[in-house]
Amino acid sequence: MIDLHSHLLPAVDDGSRSVRQSVRVLDRFARSGVTDVALTPHLLASQAGAGLTPAHEAAWEALAAEAPRGITLHRGAEVMLDRPLDERATARRVTLGGTRYILVEFPRMVAAEIVARALHEVLAHGLVPVLAHPERYSCCSVPAVTAWRHQGAVMQVDATTLTQPRGRGDRARDLVAAGLADILAADNHGDERCIATAVDWLAEHDGAEQAVMLLETNPRAILRDEPLYEVDPLPGRTGLLNRMRRLLGGV
Ligand SMILES: [Fe+2]
Repeated sequence: MIDLHSHLLPAVDDGSRSVRQSVRVLDRFARSGVTDVALTPHLLASQAGAGLTPAHEAAWEALAAEAPRGITLHRGAEVMLDRPLDERATARRVTLGGTRYILVEFPRMVAAEIVARALHEVLAHGLVPVLAHPERYSCCSVPAVTAWRHQGAVMQVDATTLTQPRGRGDRARDLVAAGLADILAADNHGDERCIATAVDWLAEHDGAEQAVMLLETNPRAILRDEPLYEVDPLPGRTGLLNRMRRLLGGV
């Protein structure tokens, strides 16, 4: 499995505080079947053009020297699009593995139209925005995500949110059930979160094929800078019932 969203670059943001803490998480990832991890520290849109700082580079060197065998680390960042992206970011200084794919996020209360406009700007730079945890935003809905994907954006749902109750959990499950998630990631901050959580959940919902697409095939396509595959909606009635409940105004 491949996890393209983590805060395991030690002591540079609100994630892992030390190399030791990151190695502990990576050891657990390896035992769970994770082979590749992108290190994606938070950056503001205004900082993205300058690329990663000397502190990021030092943290990378320190962790790369200690990372467990069997795990390949990749560069990246999670860019907060609270303002237009610095045009210099098109030099791919902060994209996922140097590809055209860039992990982006928004403030939680952002409006759907603001997201659409910002995604459009990123695409106009020749990059492909990978929207981190769309289920976290209050404006997230099946129609809104359908429109963002139609623009050309990629949706990264948090794997561990699939097992959370109501609210954000319902939105994450709706997206996966409708075939609107492109990849899953853990967004680990030096804690217990792991993408393997999604394997069990998807298996329980007849989504074994989707698990391969969301956790392996599409993340690998991103690292290869190739187009992604469409992921089928979940079979069975679970997704349909959830969507009907939303449409009828249920929680
Ligand atoms: Fe994150």
